[in-house]
Amino acid sequence: METNNAYYRNFESQLDPIFRPDAFSRPDDSDDKKFYRTDRFVSHLDSLALDTARHIIKSLIVEKNPAILDLMAGWESHLPEDLDASRITGLGLNENELKNNNRLTQYVIHDMNENPELPFSDASFDVVINTVSVDYMTQPVAVFKEVGRILKPGGLFLVIFSNRMFPQKAVKVWQESDENERVILVNDFFELSGAFEKPSRYVSKGKPRPKDDKYAHQTPVSDPIYAVYAEKKGGVSKGKRPAIRDWYGERMSAETLEKKKRTVKETLHCPHCDEKLKKWEVPDNPFCQTWDNHFMYICFNDECPYFVRGWDRMYRETNQGMSYRLMYNPENDRCMPIPVPTHMALKDGIVEN
Ligand SMILES: C[S@@+](CC[C@H](N)C(=O)[O-])C[C@H]1O[C@@H](n2cnc3c(N)ncnc32)[C@H](O)[C@@H]1O
Repeated sequence: METNNAYYRNFESQLDPIFRPDAFSRPDDSDDKKFYRTDRFVSHLDSLALDTARHIIKSLIVEKNPAILDLMAGWESHLPEDLDASRITGLGLNENELKNNNRLTQYVIHDMNENPELPFSDASFDVVINTVSVDYMTQPVAVFKEVGRILKPGGLFLVIFSNRMFPQKAVKVWQESDENERVILVNDFFELSGAFEKPSRYVSKGKPRPKDDKYAHQTPVSDPIYAVYAEKKGGVSKGKRPAIRDWYGERMSAETLEKKKRTVKETLHCPHCDEKLKKWEVPDNPFCQTWDNHFMYICFNDECPYFVRGWDRMYRETNQGMSYRLMYNPENDRCMPIPVPTHMALKDGIVEN
């Protein structure tokens, strides 16, 4: 890649992997139109992950009747049901999929890797979304610049991705990066394009995989969702969209929760999900030495909203890939969080089911 941009040269000097000459090569570098000629009427993520994507899109679109571009669109656009758009354009490579996408009001077949110039006029969209496809862009900075051109000032570009891919078509730098590094890569594409306000990020991990999902037997955890988004420079709100709220399950009022916490002593049920707490032996290690008692009671329900929302919250507030479970201490009759780095952590201490 070549540029006169000082920011870019600074990155280059730090040996950012995106400046390696083969960073955007792919195992299958042949014509994309050939690969995408095959119809793929499949869901690329589990249904809960797709609901999370819809929740993110709904939270961030504040425009009334926006003109939306679904960049690298397939047969579904993951837009909220009640979104009232003035037009929704899809750009992709498979005509049959685009024709069957019931959210699109129009579509365009255009190979962005062959030609990153987008076939739309300046400032013609309020919102551009790109879902589970950024890993296939071979000239991402040029495309992000183009998105900047076709967005109105203050317009939103939202890039959503997960950890699944067609490996033969995903670029090398993506495949060689871990999930956190991919968030940084997309952040770099925004910054290097020079068209956007400072990007924001949102991560959703650790939600339970729907029981009827085809991969439910392989993993209990839903596909992670990462979102990086920014507004085109020049808008009145200067990049300040509403924050995306943690999302999972119904929220109970603080009063109801407090009331339930007061009954844990008699019921030994989790105040957040009502599941029976499990008796857990306090291990003999330095982290637990401050507790005098030998047993605690912990909620081990992997679908407990307290535990599930904890992944998003810990990532947002501490950048840590961990959550916490509800623990009840019978000694002092108090509920508290106990940190867990994985779904399995602490389970070997369960003494009573
Ligand atoms: C994994 S699918 C995702 C489809 C859709 N965005 C979704 O969320 O379900 C990747 C999409 O990227 C599009 N695509 C891949 N390479 C492309 C290219 N070079 N130019 C334009 N679109 C491309 C394909 O048409 C395909 O629909």
